[in-house]
Amino acid sequence: MQFELSEEHLMIQKAAREFAQNELKPGVIERDELQKFPAEQIKKMAELGFMGMMVDPKYGGGGMDTISYVLAMEEISKVDASCSVIMSVNNSLVCWGIEQFGTEAQKLKYLVPLAKGEKIGAFCLSEPEAGSDATSQKTTALDMGDHYLLNGTKNWITNGGSASVYLVMAQTQLDAGHRGINCLIVERDMPGFTVGPKENKMGIRASDTHSLMFDNVKVPKENRIGEEGFGFKFAMKTLSGGRIGIASQALGIASGAYELALAYSKERKAFGKEISKHQAIQFKLADMATRIEASRLLIYQAAWLKDQHLPMDKESAMAKVYASETAMWVTTEAVQVHGGYGYVKEYHVERLMRDAKITQIYEGTSEVQRIVISRAVLS
Ligand code: CAA
Repeated sequence: MQFELSEEHLMIQKAAREFAQNELKPGVIERDELQKFPAEQIKKMAELGFMGMMVDPKYGGGGMDTISYVLAMEEISKVDASCSVIMSVNNSLVCWGIEQFGTEAQKLKYLVPLAKGEKIGAFCLSEPEAGSDATSQKTTALDMGDHYLLNGTKNWITNGGSASVYLVMAQTQLDAGHRGINCLIVERDMPGFTVGPKENKMGIRASDTHSLMFDNVKVPKENRIGEEGFGFKFAMKTLSGGRIGIASQALGIASGAYELALAYSKERKAFGKEISKHQAIQFKLADMATRIEASRLLIYQAAWLKDQHLPMDKESAMAKVYASETAMWVTTEAVQVHGGYGYVKEYHVERLMRDAKITQIYEGTSEVQRIVISRAVLS
């Protein structure tokens, strides 16, 4: 068993850390407050290869393993979780989904610009009445011979306003349940497609989350991913890997808050000594460090399984539920360590605490992860 990162992994980690500290940290508070989409920062991330890290170089990607992606996600999320969710959806849902299950023509047309970060992708499964209960899709894609006619509404779509390529799950055979769902590649400028207003969110405020409306959108047949009726399984398989990305985001949010609390505890004095010399604070730091390390090991395990093409649904769900609950707990404690300063924006931990919450909700709530885990352990 190998617990050490390779030279290459360490280099990727260092590059991501330097980029996050030098390029993302300045302005992160303002972008959060103004809900300003980080267009410039995403452009730089694309130039550095962060938008298609695991894609085969022949399709414009970095050809890296999942551990490399996890390392980059952690470093970027320590500083700016809005940038990391944009990166995560593009890498592990959209690029991975097209690369694994798309046709060669779809890869050349859509994957190449997505992997290079010239275009941004969105993954569209959630609906007003189909969040955790994802088989209850109301969006329809009726078979019209050479095309599908797409109608319906999607909700809570990350990159909804900034994307130009959308993977949309929709029901084609209305009486076939989840076996009648297809995944279609929809382009931003297809007539009948409208992007709703940006959601005003608690956290990850610089990322853009929108509802999407489809009104008789004609989507060519060649834009379907996989066989007829493969859409739900496509979504589940893709989300299983995507959960490693969100777990890494949660890990980064937690470790970012922990590092800030650790540094602050060595500077701030109370009752005649640095607060790090009080056992009440030492025990908090010890618990934070332990839970973060446990999250990291669960994530590395899931990433390793994914790279070996071994089953990892249970492990990615475990990594996500544990890391996201750790992020919520650690960020709350980090605010507590900072006292009153933790409650104001300049100290960053209040933003990390707000950002942590979404990791327990998107790409499957903590309850959904527990469904996946309990089914696996009971089967
Ligand atoms: N791989 C392959 N197939 C899978 C699978 C997987 N990981 N998981 C389920 N399936 C298959 C099942 O085998 C079954 O197929 P068969 O009937 O042919 O055997 C089919 O899918 C239906 O599965 P279930 O019966 O298990 O379905 P369910 O209704 O009980 O739901 C669930 C299971 C785990 C709750 C699922 O609905 C789920 O994961 N829901 C959450 C959805 C989600 O994560 N949404 C997030 C939106 S995307 C997002 O947030 C992105 C973003 O913008 C940040």
